[in-house]
Amino acid sequence: MKKYKIGLFGFGCVGQGFFETLNSNTEISAEVVKIAVRQKNQVRKADAKLFVYDIDSVLNDDDIDLFVELIDDPDLALSIVKTALSKGKPVVTANKKMLAENLEELIELQNKYKTPIRYEGAVCGSIPILKNIDTYYNSEKIESIKGIFNGSTNYILSKIFNENISYESALKSAQENGFAESDPTLDVEGHDPKYKLSILASHIFGQVIHPSQIINWGINKLQKHDFDFAKENDLKIKLVAKVEEADNELSLLVAPHFVSKYNPLYHIEDENNIVTIEGAYSGQQILSGKGAGSLPTGLAVLSDVREILKGQGYNYKKSLVLKPIKNDLVEAYVSFSLKHSFVTELFQSITERYVGKDYSYVIGQIKISQLQTIIKLKSVNAIITSGNKIENITSKISYSYA
Ligand SMILES: NC(=O)c1ccc[n+]([C@@H]2O[C@H](COP(=O)([O-])OP(=O)(O)OC[C@H]3O[C@@H](n4cnc5c(N)ncnc54)[C@H](OP(=O)(O)O)[C@@H]3O)[C@@H](O)[C@H]2O)c1
Repeated sequence: MKKYKIGLFGFGCVGQGFFETLNSNTEISAEVVKIAVRQKNQVRKADAKLFVYDIDSVLNDDDIDLFVELIDDPDLALSIVKTALSKGKPVVTANKKMLAENLEELIELQNKYKTPIRYEGAVCGSIPILKNIDTYYNSEKIESIKGIFNGSTNYILSKIFNENISYESALKSAQENGFAESDPTLDVEGHDPKYKLSILASHIFGQVIHPSQIINWGINKLQKHDFDFAKENDLKIKLVAKVEEADNELSLLVAPHFVSKYNPLYHIEDENNIVTIEGAYSGQQILSGKGAGSLPTGLAVLSDVREILKGQGYNYKKSLVLKPIKNDLVEAYVSFSLKHSFVTELFQSITERYVGKDYSYVIGQIKISQLQTIIKLKSVNAIITSGNKIENITSKISYSYA
């Protein structure tokens, strides 16, 4: 049986995880023959003869059958993927930013060169959501996908709720434990889950949804009074990514949400991820598990290698009618300092209001475009309260006003 030759780019967290899962697998007839890395003089957990420091020497090796791209530089990753496709060599990658920002072009290139790319590891680590969307759910009419797509922020929020510590201490703990980067901006501002949502939504609805079409904000500005409000009302705050279809229109959002214990998202702790799928025929289905990490993501990459060796790319179903993207009214809790009291006037209807000495809040219906503007103001925070009947918390709240 032919033993396929793999050229690997990157030997960091995921690269090593992939290498280890491949080497302990007895069914996939493939081996890594070259690994491109950046830094010389590093101790590597693999045969030193495999390592090269020149990307082109891997890309131009005609003996290599397929490439696995696992570096942490989206621009370089894009250039590797494009070159590989132009040579008719399939690629597996996990770079969500590169994929989300260039998906349209990458689909065209796959068609042009009749060569596939796969990227399960880019969306929620080990959770096999893309493969399932592409095959099993291809026949389903998906009405919504909601989930927790970012392990670092979920770890931070879990720490805050379970250990009663501040946002700053929780972020520090996430960094010390390797769950958050030293520059955590992409995670805590909600960009990372936006890239994943963009890829997922594009596969579900058959129309490419660029990340710039998705409104997002993160958890980095939340204040103690926002967390206190959640705790007093038996709620948790989760950074939720969601796409919903209604009346042939799509709405997409990444934002902090209040969730009650009746919502499966409430129970997802630490670095774990969850994807809930609402289908017209199947009802609600749930996938949850490790959304990042060396071996879990390495396994997702290995699963893609297996599909590629079977000649299996993604289906990329096409939307018959392009659905407009709409984000209009949402129900939100908005807290603000007194100098931003004008916020109250932006609400179309108000169900609850609190005016305090240090901060105030309003719960009610507001246009998402207005939320997007005011959330940029210092000391204004917004948490979505709607999205699921049980999350319509305002009718349940009995809160004593100061
Ligand atoms: N970490 C996760 O849990 C996770 C989960 C899902 C997806 N991903 C995605 O997977 C990809 C890899 O992430 P990671 O966490 O494994 O990153 P990482 O630990 O930082 O490793 C990056 C690797 O890329 C190599 N590299 C960087 N620039 C290079 C260059 N110019 N030439 C050659 N090699 C270069 C580095 O080489 P040196 O070793 O020499 O520095 C390193 O081996 C990223 O796109 C990430 O978004 C990661």
